[in-house]
Amino acid sequence: MIQVKDIKKSFHQTEVLKNISFQVEQGEVVVIIGPSGSGKSTLLRMMNFLEIPDEGQIIIDSKKIHFDRKRRKHRNDAEICSLRSDVSMVFQNFNLFEHKTALGNVIEGSIMVRKMAKEKAIHQGKEFLQKVGLEGKENNYPHELSGGQKQRVAIARALAMRPKAILFDEPTSALDPELVGEVLAVIKKLAEEGMTMVIVTHEMGFAKEVGDRVIFMDGGYIVESGPPKKVFENPESERLKQFLSRFSNVV
Ligand SMILES: Nc1ncnc2c1ncn2[C@@H]1O[C@H](COP(=O)(O)OP(=O)(O)OP(=O)(O)O)[C@@H](O)[C@H]1O
Ligand SMILES: [Mg+2]
Repeated sequence: MIQVKDIKKSFHQTEVLKNISFQVEQGEVVVIIGPSGSGKSTLLRMMNFLEIPDEGQIIIDSKKIHFDRKRRKHRNDAEICSLRSDVSMVFQNFNLFEHKTALGNVIEGSIMVRKMAKEKAIHQGKEFLQKVGLEGKENNYPHELSGGQKQRVAIARALAMRPKAILFDEPTSALDPELVGEVLAVIKKLAEEGMTMVIVTHEMGFAKEVGDRVIFMDGGYIVESGPPKKVFENPESERLKQFLSRFSNVV
């Protein structure tokens, strides 16, 4: 479904991703863990073309885009725009439009990107808000919602794009601890329904529970990957062992 091949990325001479390859199968939930600065967000942003790789290939559903340092005009490619709408992203800080209601946020992409008729978009948008447990909040503005509610609006917005996959970048790290559970429950439900997802998270208990596969990144490399049970209970590398020791109470 999504294939990332030999991806490299530098910012100002610093190589942040150093030859990353992995793939995500349809219906699979891949969790990415790793220390701060290891390149997790950069990798995720590449899978949504918010960052453009220096080298490598990204294949989404057999549509292949090849990157190299000499051809960097991809940023405006119609092809990239179309691929981007196949893969939705949910951010740590929600990224909602503050001047739009919950429903307004959810229908924006369906109307502007998917070119859906407004009435249909509203009907569908209400259904997605209901799905994330926000019926009755359609007309509330972001400042009238809790962090957990805002993130659930962001998830409903991602769903409204009818994506083939959803990428989550630390969806609960900006939330007060008591609000984390309601967002994780929504993501877990999507996993059970077979949504293809890539989730960067520091919630190790959740990673273990919901992930089909866990990838551990450090220093711009994938150091280790495998089923959660293996990665969490039987880590091979010293770096992963050391990283997990910080979470020893949850894993
Ligand atoms: N736009 C940018 N310009 C320059 N450097 C960047 C940029 N984006 C990321 N970096 C650098 O790339 C490295 C990897 O950053 P990235 O945000 O991918 O890490 P991360 O694993 O997501 O970390 P965290 O867990 O703190 O979110 C860091 O050293 C960061 O400073
Ligand atoms: Mg990050």
